[in-house]
Amino acid sequence: MKIHMPVLLTNAGWIRTPASPDENGVPYEMRKLDADSILLENGLVRWIGREADAPLTKAERVDLNGMGVTPGLIDFHAHPVFAATREAEFELRTRGASYEEIAAAGGGILNSARRVREATEDHLFAHSLPFLDNALAAGTTTLEAKSGYGLEPDAEYKMLRVIRRLNDVHALDLFPTFLGAHEFPPEYRDDHEGYIATLIDEMIPYVAREGLAEACDIFCETGVYSIEESTRILLAAKEHGLKVKVHADQLSPLGGAKLAADLGALSADHIEFIDDEGIEKLASSGTVAGLLPVAAHFLRMKEDPPVREMIDRGVICALATDFNPGSSMCESMTMALHLAVMRFRVNAEEAFWMATAGSARALGLTDRGWIGEGALADLVVWSTDGIEQVPYHFGVNHASQVYKRGRLAAKEGRPLS
Ligand code: NIG
Ligand code: FE
Repeated sequence: MKIHMPVLLTNAGWIRTPASPDENGVPYEMRKLDADSILLENGLVRWIGREADAPLTKAERVDLNGMGVTPGLIDFHAHPVFAATREAEFELRTRGASYEEIAAAGGGILNSARRVREATEDHLFAHSLPFLDNALAAGTTTLEAKSGYGLEPDAEYKMLRVIRRLNDVHALDLFPTFLGAHEFPPEYRDDHEGYIATLIDEMIPYVAREGLAEACDIFCETGVYSIEESTRILLAAKEHGLKVKVHADQLSPLGGAKLAADLGALSADHIEFIDDEGIEKLASSGTVAGLLPVAAHFLRMKEDPPVREMIDRGVICALATDFNPGSSMCESMTMALHLAVMRFRVNAEEAFWMATAGSARALGLTDRGWIGEGALADLVVWSTDGIEQVPYHFGVNHASQVYKRGRLAAKEGRPLS
């Protein structure tokens, strides 16, 4: 491994961070650190304080000229690997067609599945790279990447191998998730049990054995995977050592959030239609409420999740883009911050906490999502006077520098590679 010179960031105007998971801090609080300098060494934060007290380590000194620092943003729910964009469907929706109508006519997830099945690994790899660059340049330092556009063993494994390859070459850390249960493939339209058997007996064991994914996700929804089917599939995933997560209560109040909590899932995501019992279950379990306001915006959802009520009742919320070609064509976490504030009526501090500490929790990661000695040196340097300007002044990139594992990975909106 190449040894890199430590970096000393100095002259920061402000540094704000959630508490580390060990500290049992107050949820939704972004502490203001009494410090202006951070020493990054061997991929980790080694020291934080006033520059005059910095350890006498030979380091590259970077003057931040009063800019501010937060932890890198963590996009815990995303579908960045696909073979083709779907702007034709978007056009149909602008003329009044609904997402469900397009899906029922063979568009939607099945449209992407047809294209992924035909695509080579090289095409999928090259198609995905620019999206990863965009995410990084906007402040994302860890990105989930789901399969789920293959819907047959070989095409699902192909997607997961591409995710592995992207992770190997790109500065971002990718968190791979198996989403073979994103839809029922057309060849099993009248034989759901046949595909569920393939998932449980063949695909989940293979994915777990080959180490191709950390977690298994499912689209638990009316007309897709029922509660009973989701339960069987996710229990099989757990038996094979995969963590589980759920697309839950997005389009109808099916009970996916309650199921996620009962199974000890990492997160229950979307949850526009979560009910009282679902909120109670999330509050009393470790399962995170995954908020996806960009998808809510893109689908013009009339229903929003009861975010304020969830926060008041002690639910831990996380924030992600849900980047995908059908329901959220946006890989920018800063847009997610803006839309969380606008649609879900949280404040900038809450939104940043959700996008860092909350999202780290939603991936089961404790080494990131906070700034402190021993944390991964994943940082965003913002050209703003505070966190409040980031969701407020929207549509422009305020991420002046992005550090990934201690190294400058993007600057002024451009990845360095
Ligand atoms: O997360 N909710 C289900 N699946 C995706 C949409 C996928 C697509 O349309 O391609 C989502 O929103
Ligand atoms: Fe999704």
